[in-house]
Amino acid sequence: MTKLDSEPIIKPEDKETKKKKEALFALADRLREAAKEKRKRIREEGFKVVVTGKGGAGKTTVSALLARILARRGYRVLAVDEDPQINLPNALGLPKDVADRIVPLSRNVDYIEEKTGARPGEEWGVFLIVNPDVSDVIERFGVKGPDGVTILVMGTVVQAATGCLCPENALLAAVMDYLVLRKGEVVIMDTQAGLEHFGRAIAKGFKQSVVISEPTHNSMQVAAHAMRLSHELGIPYVHLVLNKVRSEKEVDRALRLAKEFKAPEPTSVVVIPYDPIVLDYEPNVGPLLDMDPKPEIVKAVEHLADLVEKYGNM
Ligand SMILES: Nc1ncnc2c1ncn2[C@@H]1O[C@H](COP(=O)(O)OP(=O)(O)OP(=O)(O)O)[C@@H](O)[C@H]1O
Ligand SMILES: [Mg+2]
Repeated sequence: MTKLDSEPIIKPEDKETKKKKEALFALADRLREAAKEKRKRIREEGFKVVVTGKGGAGKTTVSALLARILARRGYRVLAVDEDPQINLPNALGLPKDVADRIVPLSRNVDYIEEKTGARPGEEWGVFLIVNPDVSDVIERFGVKGPDGVTILVMGTVVQAATGCLCPENALLAAVMDYLVLRKGEVVIMDTQAGLEHFGRAIAKGFKQSVVISEPTHNSMQVAAHAMRLSHELGIPYVHLVLNKVRSEKEVDRALRLAKEFKAPEPTSVVVIPYDPIVLDYEPNVGPLLDMDPKPEIVKAVEHLADLVEKYGNM
């Protein structure tokens, strides 16, 4: 047998990973309990937006532009990267030395161990509850980027090959739940491709979803699914963003496909033209924001920002 033959493709989970997963779940449970109490006392006045869609449709590009545009309008913006690939910091134009300082949220458990010397078991998670202000979580795990956008990265403790990001997502959902936004505060959450992660937990507390799609058959199929899921999850406002559009004909076709795939009627439709200027600077969207004349993509995302503001403040 060759060496390759003898190695399993998916390695069995080691003890350390298992321990971390359990600790993350425990932390998430406690945080959710605390969130329930907090929500009885405080009313949410800010708004949360989840960005989803097929791989490569433009989720990260649009999330980064939207985050920075809203920040320039005076909002306190928390940009959350749920994608284990962690592309959002670069898209936001975070300098390398700052990006290097990011501590993924999933390292929470390590952090607690470092700071408190807590052992695995019952003590896990107490730290957050003793000091259950999530602005503290944001301070510890978030970093400030251009235009004052704060960036929070989920990260992962689980090998991608095992295909499970459950504890990380449970923790992220609990933190989002706990985060009761004040007036003028916004969360923009960029997600990984596909929909597995787009579950009840993650979308909870999100009143708006932005579903990004290229005007193609396969991309619209995923978008239609995401729009349906958004409705099922009780997200009242769903913005369909057709990205990389080259002609009016493509818009017509995409909307026809949406109907064919039985997508519910979106709250709004935003068209972003294919804009080659993006590729001169990608992954960083920063330089696009200061160009004169304004690139088409920036104008279109400003329109999306108008809508997100309107429905967020309703
Ligand atoms: N309107 C546009 N015009 C031209 N290029 C674009 C446009 N929007 C996005 N792109 C480019 O398309 C590529 C994919 O975009 P992006 O990374 O934002 O997609 P994504 O949905 O986040 O992908 P993934 O699923 O891999 O996370 C990037 O190279 C980006 O610069
Ligand atoms: Mg992305």
